[in-house]
Amino acid sequence: MTMSNLEQTLSIIKPDAVERNLENEIKEMFKTNGFKILKEKKIQIEKSEAEKFYKVHETKPFYNDLCDYLSSGPIVVMVLEKENSVLGNRELMGATNPKDAEEGTIRKKYGISIDKNSVHGSDSVENAKIEIDFFFKD
Ligand code: CMP
Repeated sequence: MTMSNLEQTLSIIKPDAVERNLENEIKEMFKTNGFKILKEKKIQIEKSEAEKFYKVHETKPFYNDLCDYLSSGPIVVMVLEKENSVLGNRELMGATNPKDAEEGTIRKKYGISIDKNSVHGSDSVENAKIEIDFFFKD
C-alpha cells in the first residue's frame, strides 16, 4: 500500500546564486524534479534576521560569517511542495560542501564553496514548518 506524504519545505536561493542570475535555472531544476513552487519572494534581510533564522548554528565558529553572508544581498525564499519534499530537496541540493556534492545536484552544478553553496533547504519536517513560518507568516 502506498501512503501519500505531501510535504512542504523551505528553500532559499542564496546571494551567490541570485548575484549570478541563476534564479530561473535553479527554479527549473526544482520544477523538473517535480517540486511545485507554492510561494516565493525575493528579499534582502537584515543581519539580525539572519541571526534568528540560523539560530540553531549560533554556537558554531562559522555563525557570524554565515549571517553576514545571508544578509549580504538579495535572496529568493520559496515554499516547495512534493511528496517527501524535505528529503527530496536535500537530495536535489547535494552535500553542504559543493566539493562533496554528487553530479546532477544543485550545489555540484552551481556551488562555489561551503559558504557560497547557492541554496538552503530545511533539514527536517519540523524545521520546515518553523522556517516556512519565519518567512511567510503574516
Ligand atoms: P545551509 O544549508 O544554509 O545551513 C547552514 C550553512 O552554514 C550551510 O548551508 C553552509 O553554507 C554554512 N557553513 C559554513 N561552514 C560550515 C560547516 N563547517 N559545516 C556546515 N555548514 C557550514
